Amino acid sequence: MTAARTEPSRDEAQPIFFAHWLRRPLSMGAALPSGPQVARALARQMQLDRPGTILELGAGTGTITRGLLDGGCPAERLALVEMEPQLVAHLERRYRGSLIWRGDARSVASFLEMCVPRLATVISSLPIKWFSRDEQRAVVLPCLERLGPGGHFVQITNGPNSPIAARSLGIEARHIGAVWLHFLPVQIWRYWRD
Ligand SMILES: C[S@@+](CC[C@H](N)C(=O)[O-])C[C@H]1O[C@@H](n2cnc3c(N)ncnc32)[C@H](O)[C@@H]1O
Repeated sequence: MTAARTEPSRDEAQPIFFAHWLRRPLSMGAALPSGPQVARALARQMQLDRPGTILELGAGTGTITRGLLDGGCPAERLALVEMEPQLVAHLERRYRGSLIWRGDARSVASFLEMCVPRLATVISSLPIKWFSRDEQRAVVLPCLERLGPGGHFVQITNGPNSPIAARSLGIEARHIGAVWLHFLPVQIWRYWRD
């Protein structure tokens, strides 16, 4: 967990992202980072009027992170989780003042236990549709517990269906919109517990 110092451009991370995609496409989920339009749409999903941290899962090159900050989230309210060391190093250089955890989101419970008592909203671009049901449970349920009633877990996906098996996890799901990038829509889903 570190704070970043300088502000290099996002472009320096794109080759790293693409190289990881070539090696492990399912872990990256997409060949390109999320664009600024997606970042703006996700920033509108932040519940900044609730107390607690805004948690971004799978922060990658930091495109969505930039959108969340530009959308009004103070850097010190933002926590980022990313598993690829080179992308973490990039995030550390770029985002000063935010909490950055280099780790596997499937172990997010221990990170929350140590560092985050309360969550306002979770914004995820993890390739979660490729996770097993137990892995999805390990990511989503600890987040919903820290979110409490009324808190949203927001997830993007390229596919047409819910990327999270909401019914087997016993949670509510709603498709809340799409961002059209050329001919490929990015779908936005919201999950919560009644
Ligand atoms: C589709 S990319 C989105 C990246 C980011 N939104 C961007 O625009 O650069 C998914 C990201 O999730 C990360 N990731 C995948 N599985 C993960 C896991 N289990 N724990 C933490 N990060 C993970 C990947 O390394 C990648 O950076």
